[in-house]
Amino acid sequence: MIKAKLADSSQEYSRIIAGVMRWGKWGAKLNTKEIGDLITSCLDYGVTSFDHADIYGDHTTEEDFGAAYLDAGVSRSDMQLITKCGIKMLSPSCPDNKIKSYDTSKKYIIASVEKSLRNLRTDYIDLLLIHRPGPLMRVEEIAEAFTELRKEGKVVDFGVSNFTASQFDLLHSQIPLVTNQIELSMVQLQAFEDGTLDNALKHGVSPQAWSPLGGAELFKPQSKYDVVMRNSRLNEVRSDYNWTLSQMALLFLLHHPAHVSPVLGTSKSERIKSAVECLSQHITDEQWYEIWTASKGVKVP
Ligand SMILES: NC(=O)c1ccc[n+]([C@@H]2O[C@H](COP(=O)([O-])OP(=O)(O)OC[C@H]3O[C@@H](n4cnc5c(N)ncnc54)[C@H](OP(=O)(O)O)[C@@H]3O)[C@@H](O)[C@H]2O)c1
Repeated sequence: MIKAKLADSSQEYSRIIAGVMRWGKWGAKLNTKEIGDLITSCLDYGVTSFDHADIYGDHTTEEDFGAAYLDAGVSRSDMQLITKCGIKMLSPSCPDNKIKSYDTSKKYIIASVEKSLRNLRTDYIDLLLIHRPGPLMRVEEIAEAFTELRKEGKVVDFGVSNFTASQFDLLHSQIPLVTNQIELSMVQLQAFEDGTLDNALKHGVSPQAWSPLGGAELFKPQSKYDVVMRNSRLNEVRSDYNWTLSQMALLFLLHHPAHVSPVLGTSKSERIKSAVECLSQHITDEQWYEIWTASKGVKVP
Protein backbone atom coordinates (compact mmCIF):
# COMPACT_ATOMS: atom_id res chain seq x y z
CA MET A 1 0.00 0.00 0.00
CA ILE A 2 1.24 3.46 -0.87
CA LYS A 3 1.65 5.61 2.22
CA ALA A 4 0.75 9.27 2.43
CA LYS A 5 2.93 11.58 4.46
CA LEU A 6 0.86 14.55 5.56
CA ALA A 7 2.66 17.89 5.36
CA ASP A 8 5.04 18.28 8.32
CA SER A 9 3.81 15.18 10.12
CA SER A 10 6.30 12.58 11.29
CA GLN A 11 3.64 9.91 10.77
CA GLU A 12 2.57 7.95 7.72
CA TYR A 13 -1.06 7.30 6.85
CA SER A 14 -2.42 4.90 4.26
CA ARG A 15 -3.21 6.65 0.98
CA ILE A 16 -6.68 5.10 1.08
CA ILE A 17 -8.50 5.65 4.35
CA ALA A 18 -11.36 3.57 5.75
CA GLY A 19 -14.23 5.78 6.92
CA VAL A 20 -16.30 4.15 9.64
CA MET A 21 -19.32 6.49 9.64
CA ARG A 22 -21.59 3.83 8.11
CA TRP A 23 -20.20 0.76 9.88
CA GLY A 24 -22.36 1.01 13.00
CA LYS A 25 -25.67 2.57 13.99
CA TRP A 26 -25.71 5.02 11.05
CA GLY A 27 -25.42 2.31 8.41
CA ALA A 28 -24.54 -1.36 8.24
CA LYS A 29 -25.04 -1.96 11.99
CA LEU A 30 -22.12 -4.40 12.07
CA ASN A 31 -21.65 -6.35 15.29
CA THR A 32 -18.38 -6.52 17.24
CA LYS A 33 -17.12 -9.59 15.38
CA GLU A 34 -18.02 -8.10 11.96
CA ILE A 35 -16.28 -4.80 12.78
CA GLY A 36 -13.22 -6.72 13.97
CA ASP A 37 -13.17 -8.77 10.75
CA LEU A 38 -13.48 -5.62 8.64
CA ILE A 39 -10.63 -3.91 10.50
CA THR A 40 -8.48 -7.01 9.95
CA SER A 41 -9.32 -7.07 6.23
CA CYS A 42 -8.44 -3.38 5.90
CA LEU A 43 -5.06 -4.00 7.52
CA ASP A 44 -4.47 -7.01 5.24
CA TYR A 45 -5.07 -4.74 2.22
CA GLY A 46 -2.74 -2.08 3.62
CA VAL A 47 -5.54 0.30 4.65
CA THR A 48 -4.20 1.21 8.07
CA SER A 49 -5.85 4.61 8.64
CA PHE A 50 -9.43 4.78 9.99
CA ASP A 51 -11.61 7.88 9.93
CA HIS A 52 -13.95 8.50 12.86
CA ALA A 53 -15.86 11.39 14.40
CA ASP A 54 -17.12 11.71 17.96
CA ILE A 55 -20.71 11.97 16.64
CA TYR A 56 -20.80 8.91 14.34
CA GLY A 57 -23.63 6.55 15.22
CA ASP A 58 -24.99 9.11 17.70
CA HIS A 59 -21.74 8.90 19.65
CA THR A 60 -21.63 5.06 19.55
CA THR A 61 -19.32 4.11 16.65
CA GLU A 62 -16.00 5.02 18.26
CA GLU A 63 -16.91 2.79 21.21
CA ASP A 64 -18.01 -0.07 18.91
CA PHE A 65 -14.71 0.20 17.03
CA GLY A 66 -12.64 0.30 20.22
CA ALA A 67 -14.29 -2.86 21.56
CA ALA A 68 -13.99 -4.61 18.19
CA TYR A 69 -10.29 -4.09 17.55
CA LEU A 70 -9.39 -5.25 21.05
CA ASP A 71 -11.65 -8.28 20.65
CA ALA A 72 -10.03 -9.09 17.28
CA GLY A 73 -6.56 -8.88 18.79
CA VAL A 74 -5.53 -6.01 16.52
CA SER A 75 -2.56 -4.04 17.78
CA ARG A 76 -3.18 -0.31 18.23
CA SER A 77 0.22 0.47 16.76
CA ASP A 78 -0.76 -1.13 13.42
CA MET A 79 -3.44 1.55 12.85
CA GLN A 80 -3.70 5.31 12.59
CA LEU A 81 -6.88 6.62 14.19
CA ILE A 82 -8.36 9.86 12.88
CA THR A 83 -11.26 11.50 14.67
CA LYS A 84 -13.13 14.80 14.65
CA CYS A 85 -14.84 17.09 17.10
CA GLY A 86 -16.79 20.32 17.25
CA ILE A 87 -20.33 19.41 16.17
CA LYS A 88 -22.96 19.57 18.92
CA MET A 89 -25.77 17.35 17.73
CA LEU A 90 -29.38 17.18 18.74
CA SER A 91 -29.56 13.63 20.01
CA PRO A 92 -30.79 11.69 23.04
CA SER A 93 -27.09 11.06 23.77
CA CYS A 94 -26.55 14.82 24.23
CA PRO A 95 -29.56 16.03 26.27
CA ASP A 96 -27.87 19.36 27.10
CA ASN A 97 -27.75 20.50 23.46
CA LYS A 98 -30.71 22.79 22.79
CA ILE A 99 -29.93 23.37 19.11
CA LYS A 100 -27.51 21.87 16.58
CA SER A 101 -24.42 24.08 16.69
CA TYR A 102 -20.62 24.09 16.65
CA ASP A 103 -18.29 24.43 19.62
CA THR A 104 -14.54 24.78 19.11
CA SER A 105 -13.71 26.23 22.50
CA LYS A 106 -10.59 24.86 24.21
CA LYS A 107 -12.71 23.26 26.91
CA TYR A 108 -14.98 21.51 24.41
CA ILE A 109 -12.14 20.24 22.19
CA ILE A 110 -10.23 18.81 25.15
CA ALA A 111 -13.32 17.16 26.67
CA SER A 112 -14.21 15.68 23.29
CA VAL A 113 -10.71 14.22 22.83
CA GLU A 114 -10.77 12.71 26.34
CA LYS A 115 -14.05 10.98 25.43
CA SER A 116 -12.72 9.74 22.08
CA LEU A 117 -9.64 8.33 23.81
CA ARG A 118 -11.86 6.39 26.21
CA ASN A 119 -14.20 5.17 23.47
CA LEU A 120 -11.40 4.16 21.12
CA ARG A 121 -9.57 2.42 23.97
CA THR A 122 -6.33 4.20 23.27
CA ASP A 123 -4.05 6.75 24.90
CA TYR A 124 -3.38 8.74 21.72
CA ILE A 125 -5.18 9.86 18.57
CA ASP A 126 -3.09 10.10 15.42
CA LEU A 127 -4.99 12.90 13.75
CA LEU A 128 -7.64 15.20 15.19
CA LEU A 129 -9.80 17.30 12.86
CA ILE A 130 -12.11 20.22 13.57
CA HIS A 131 -15.20 18.75 11.90
CA ARG A 132 -16.73 21.92 10.46
CA PRO A 133 -15.78 25.58 10.46
CA GLY A 134 -18.13 28.05 12.13
CA PRO A 135 -18.47 31.83 12.20
CA LEU A 136 -17.61 31.90 15.93
CA MET A 137 -14.31 30.00 15.69
CA ARG A 138 -11.65 31.59 17.87
CA VAL A 139 -8.50 30.34 16.25
CA GLU A 140 -6.16 31.26 19.12
CA GLU A 141 -8.24 29.07 21.41
CA ILE A 142 -8.19 26.14 18.98
CA ALA A 143 -4.41 26.51 18.68
CA GLU A 144 -4.08 26.53 22.48
CA ALA A 145 -6.13 23.33 22.78
CA PHE A 146 -4.08 21.64 20.04
CA THR A 147 -0.79 22.69 21.65
CA GLU A 148 -1.86 21.30 25.03
CA LEU A 149 -3.08 18.00 23.51
CA ARG A 150 0.18 17.57 21.63
CA LYS A 151 2.27 18.39 24.70
CA GLU A 152 0.38 15.76 26.72
CA GLY A 153 0.95 13.18 23.97
CA LYS A 154 -2.80 12.76 23.44
CA VAL A 155 -2.84 13.79 19.76
CA VAL A 156 -0.03 13.57 17.20
CA ASP A 157 -1.33 15.58 14.21
CA PHE A 158 -4.02 18.21 13.70
CA GLY A 159 -6.16 19.16 10.74
CA VAL A 160 -9.54 20.47 9.71
CA SER A 161 -12.52 19.40 7.68
CA ASN A 162 -14.80 21.31 5.32
CA PHE A 163 -12.70 24.49 5.66
CA THR A 164 -12.49 27.03 2.85
CA ALA A 165 -9.02 28.13 1.72
CA SER A 166 -9.18 31.31 3.84
CA GLN A 167 -10.47 29.49 6.94
CA PHE A 168 -7.63 26.99 6.52
CA ASP A 169 -5.07 29.81 6.26
CA LEU A 170 -6.46 31.51 9.34
CA LEU A 171 -5.95 28.51 11.62
CA HIS A 172 -2.77 27.34 9.83
CA SER A 173 -1.24 30.73 10.68
CA GLN A 174 -1.60 29.82 14.39
CA ILE A 175 -0.67 26.12 14.31
CA PRO A 176 0.50 23.79 11.53
CA LEU A 177 -2.30 21.70 10.02
CA VAL A 178 -1.62 18.52 8.06
CA THR A 179 -4.87 18.10 6.09
CA ASN A 180 -8.26 19.46 5.13
CA GLN A 181 -10.87 16.71 4.78
CA ILE A 182 -13.38 17.87 2.17
CA GLU A 183 -16.25 16.54 0.13
CA LEU A 184 -14.77 15.71 -3.27
CA SER A 185 -15.81 13.35 -6.03
CA MET A 186 -16.89 13.22 -9.63
CA VAL A 187 -20.29 14.37 -8.43
CA GLN A 188 -19.01 17.07 -6.06
CA LEU A 189 -16.52 19.15 -8.00
CA GLN A 190 -16.62 22.44 -6.09
CA ALA A 191 -13.23 22.15 -4.37
CA PHE A 192 -11.51 21.64 -7.72
CA GLU A 193 -12.53 25.16 -8.70
CA ASP A 194 -13.03 27.28 -5.59
CA GLY A 195 -9.37 27.45 -4.48
CA THR A 196 -9.52 24.72 -1.83
CA LEU A 197 -7.24 22.32 -3.73
CA ASP A 198 -5.00 25.16 -4.97
CA ASN A 199 -4.49 26.16 -1.36
CA ALA A 200 -3.65 22.59 -0.34
CA LEU A 201 -1.03 22.49 -3.11
CA LYS A 202 0.34 25.86 -2.01
CA HIS A 203 0.88 24.57 1.54
CA GLY A 204 1.98 21.04 0.50
CA VAL A 205 -0.95 19.65 2.50
CA SER A 206 -2.62 16.50 1.10
CA PRO A 207 -6.43 16.75 1.25
CA GLN A 208 -8.67 13.86 2.23
CA ALA A 209 -11.83 13.30 0.15
CA TRP A 210 -14.99 12.27 1.97
CA SER A 211 -17.86 10.65 0.05
CA PRO A 212 -15.46 9.80 -2.78
CA LEU A 213 -18.26 7.88 -4.50
CA GLY A 214 -20.80 10.60 -3.82
CA GLY A 215 -22.29 8.46 -1.06
CA ALA A 216 -24.66 5.66 -2.06
CA GLU A 217 -26.45 8.18 -4.32
CA LEU A 218 -23.92 7.47 -7.07
CA PHE A 219 -25.38 4.02 -7.55
CA LYS A 220 -29.08 4.84 -7.45
CA PRO A 221 -30.64 4.57 -10.94
CA GLN A 222 -32.97 7.55 -10.57
CA SER A 223 -30.62 9.84 -8.67
CA LYS A 224 -29.48 13.27 -9.81
CA TYR A 225 -26.14 11.70 -10.76
CA ASP A 226 -27.73 9.18 -13.09
CA VAL A 227 -27.16 11.43 -16.09
CA VAL A 228 -23.41 11.38 -15.41
CA MET A 229 -23.34 7.63 -15.03
CA ARG A 230 -25.33 7.05 -18.21
CA ASN A 231 -22.94 9.22 -20.22
CA SER A 232 -22.00 6.91 -23.06
CA ARG A 233 -18.47 8.26 -23.62
CA LEU A 234 -17.70 7.80 -19.94
CA ASN A 235 -18.95 4.23 -20.00
CA GLU A 236 -16.77 3.53 -23.04
CA VAL A 237 -13.71 4.78 -21.17
CA ARG A 238 -14.68 2.67 -18.20
CA SER A 239 -15.21 -0.55 -20.13
CA ASP A 240 -12.08 -0.05 -22.25
CA TYR A 241 -10.06 -0.34 -19.07
CA ASN A 242 -12.28 -2.77 -17.18
CA TRP A 243 -12.76 -0.29 -14.37
CA THR A 244 -15.83 -0.50 -12.19
CA LEU A 245 -17.75 2.72 -11.69
CA SER A 246 -16.24 3.00 -8.18
CA GLN A 247 -12.72 2.50 -9.50
CA MET A 248 -13.21 5.20 -12.12
CA ALA A 249 -14.46 7.61 -9.44
CA LEU A 250 -11.43 6.86 -7.25
CA LEU A 251 -8.90 7.09 -10.10
CA PHE A 252 -10.34 10.51 -10.89
CA LEU A 253 -9.40 11.64 -7.36
CA LEU A 254 -6.04 9.86 -7.14
CA HIS A 255 -4.85 11.44 -10.41
CA HIS A 256 -5.06 15.02 -9.10
CA PRO A 257 -1.68 16.65 -8.33
CA ALA A 258 -2.80 17.57 -4.79
CA HIS A 259 -2.25 13.93 -3.74
CA VAL A 260 -5.81 13.36 -2.53
CA SER A 261 -6.55 10.52 -0.08
CA PRO A 262 -10.03 9.05 -0.59
CA VAL A 263 -11.93 8.28 2.63
CA LEU A 264 -14.00 5.22 1.67
CA GLY A 265 -17.46 4.76 3.13
CA THR A 266 -18.07 1.10 2.36
CA SER A 267 -18.68 -1.53 5.00
CA LYS A 268 -17.76 -4.33 2.61
CA SER A 269 -14.32 -5.91 2.56
CA GLU A 270 -14.40 -6.73 -1.19
CA ARG A 271 -15.09 -3.06 -2.04
CA ILE A 272 -12.10 -1.96 0.02
CA LYS A 273 -9.95 -4.49 -1.87
CA SER A 274 -11.22 -3.17 -5.20
CA ALA A 275 -10.42 0.41 -4.13
CA VAL A 276 -6.86 -0.55 -3.19
CA GLU A 277 -6.37 -2.03 -6.67
CA CYS A 278 -6.68 1.53 -8.02
CA LEU A 279 -3.32 2.40 -6.49
CA SER A 280 -1.55 0.30 -9.11
CA GLN A 281 -3.56 1.79 -12.00
CA HIS A 282 -3.21 5.08 -13.81
CA ILE A 283 -5.42 7.27 -15.90
CA THR A 284 -4.19 9.73 -18.47
CA ASP A 285 -4.90 13.45 -18.35
CA GLU A 286 -7.27 12.97 -21.32
CA GLN A 287 -9.21 10.25 -19.49
CA TRP A 288 -9.38 12.54 -16.46
CA TYR A 289 -10.90 15.23 -18.67
CA GLU A 290 -13.43 12.70 -20.05
CA ILE A 291 -14.67 12.20 -16.48
CA TRP A 292 -14.48 15.92 -15.74
CA THR A 293 -16.48 16.82 -18.87
CA ALA A 294 -19.13 14.18 -18.21
CA SER A 295 -19.41 15.24 -14.57
CA LYS A 296 -19.67 18.95 -15.40
CA GLY A 297 -22.04 18.31 -18.27
CA VAL A 298 -20.13 20.79 -20.47
CA LYS A 299 -16.89 20.76 -22.41
CA VAL A 300 -13.98 22.83 -21.14
CA PRO A 301 -14.02 26.28 -22.77
N1 LIG B 1 -15.60 15.31 7.27
C1 LIG B 1 -16.89 15.23 7.02
O1 LIG B 1 -17.64 16.20 7.17
C2 LIG B 1 -17.45 13.93 6.53
C3 LIG B 1 -18.77 13.86 6.06
C4 LIG B 1 -19.23 12.63 5.62
C5 LIG B 1 -18.40 11.50 5.65
N2 LIG B 1 -17.14 11.59 6.13
C6 LIG B 1 -16.23 10.44 6.15
O2 LIG B 1 -16.13 9.93 4.83
C7 LIG B 1 -16.42 8.54 4.82
C8 LIG B 1 -17.00 8.16 3.50
O3 LIG B 1 -18.23 8.84 3.25
P1 LIG B 1 -19.38 8.09 2.48
O4 LIG B 1 -19.83 6.92 3.27
O5 LIG B 1 -20.40 9.06 2.07
O6 LIG B 1 -18.52 7.57 1.20
P2 LIG B 1 -18.79 6.86 -0.17
O7 LIG B 1 -17.71 5.84 -0.32
O8 LIG B 1 -18.93 7.89 -1.23
O9 LIG B 1 -20.20 6.12 -0.02
C9 LIG B 1 -20.35 4.95 0.74
C10 LIG B 1 -21.72 4.36 0.47
O10 LIG B 1 -21.78 3.89 -0.88
C11 LIG B 1 -22.15 2.51 -0.88
N3 LIG B 1 -21.46 1.83 -1.97
C12 LIG B 1 -20.12 1.76 -2.18
N4 LIG B 1 -19.86 1.04 -3.31
C13 LIG B 1 -21.05 0.69 -3.81
C14 LIG B 1 -21.45 -0.04 -4.97
N5 LIG B 1 -20.55 -0.51 -5.83
N6 LIG B 1 -22.77 -0.22 -5.20
C15 LIG B 1 -23.70 0.27 -4.33
N7 LIG B 1 -23.39 0.98 -3.20
C16 LIG B 1 -22.07 1.18 -2.95
C17 LIG B 1 -21.71 1.98 0.47
O11 LIG B 1 -22.48 0.84 0.81
P3 LIG B 1 -21.76 -0.56 1.26
O12 LIG B 1 -21.38 -0.39 2.69
O13 LIG B 1 -22.85 -1.56 1.04
O14 LIG B 1 -20.58 -0.78 0.35
C18 LIG B 1 -22.01 3.17 1.36
O15 LIG B 1 -23.37 3.20 1.72
C19 LIG B 1 -17.30 8.33 6.06
O16 LIG B 1 -17.25 7.01 6.54
C20 LIG B 1 -16.69 9.30 7.04
O17 LIG B 1 -15.56 8.69 7.65
C21 LIG B 1 -16.63 12.80 6.56
